[in-house]
Amino acid sequence: MNEENKSIHEFDLELICEYFANLKRQGPGSPEVTIKALSFIDNLDDKSRIADIGCGSGGQTMVLAQHAPGNITGVDIFPTFIDLFNRNAEKLGLQDRVKGIVESMDNLPFQDEELDLIWSEGAIYNIGFERGLHEWRKFLKTGGYIAVSEGTWFTEERPAEIEEFWMSVYPEIDTISNKVAQMQKAGYIPVSTFILPENCWTEIYFAPKVEADKRFLEKNAGNKAAEEFIANQQHEARLYNTYKEYYGYAFYIGKKI
Ligand SMILES: C[S@@+](CC[C@H](N)C(=O)[O-])C[C@H]1O[C@@H](n2cnc3c(N)ncnc32)[C@H](O)[C@@H]1O
Repeated sequence: MNEENKSIHEFDLELICEYFANLKRQGPGSPEVTIKALSFIDNLDDKSRIADIGCGSGGQTMVLAQHAPGNITGVDIFPTFIDLFNRNAEKLGLQDRVKGIVESMDNLPFQDEELDLIWSEGAIYNIGFERGLHEWRKFLKTGGYIAVSEGTWFTEERPAEIEEFWMSVYPEIDTISNKVAQMQKAGYIPVSTFILPENCWTEIYFAPKVEADKRFLEKNAGNKAAEEFIANQQHEARLYNTYKEYYGYAFYIGKKI
């Protein structure tokens, strides 16, 4: 495999955690996008149960909590992120209705039909879009919603370099129409889909990484794995700048029927 196209899963997990813990968001997104996706959800009240899966340190969860009623459980596999998540909830006075737990998205601790809303920004790829939609569906009440953002092709065809990159890191990337069809097949009414604006990647995700990369390399000077990890992150940013007309993230919002 081309070294530059290594998937994030192939790096030392502690290093990845240390790096991403210093960032507000661990993936592309923005408060405006979270609020826009939430505007399609019409079933929530104070008793609602919401799960944010692959929540990271909770950048988007706190926005969700400030704009939606109900109780939110953030789920992430990394304890470092969940510690930060719970501290962030406390800082914002949200700790009574926003709690982070350490668990894997393929072993969620919810009861059947317990949830009114499943949220997941830039994280369902860890289990796979189709598998996640199928496996998580049972946790939703009938009429409950799922809202996920996911890597998406914007065109039918694209240059070989970007095609090869995605095929090696996440071959399940697909076009909006194919993803919507998958959502429908998995038992949801596709309610809405929209493409995340470019600033979710450039301003919110990549820009803070420039300083984070510098600090991380200083702290881990001489560590080959750390250097390789940062080179890989920077490669991803360069690819985005070159090929952003061809791919990005889209939000997919569906209602369980
Ligand atoms: C790209 S980040 C997105 C984080 C956050 N939702 C955001 O948008 O800023 C993906 C998240 O999925 C989490 N993750 C990876 N594998 C997981 C698993 N098996 N179960 C739960 N979370 C997982 C990672 O720890 C990370 O926080």
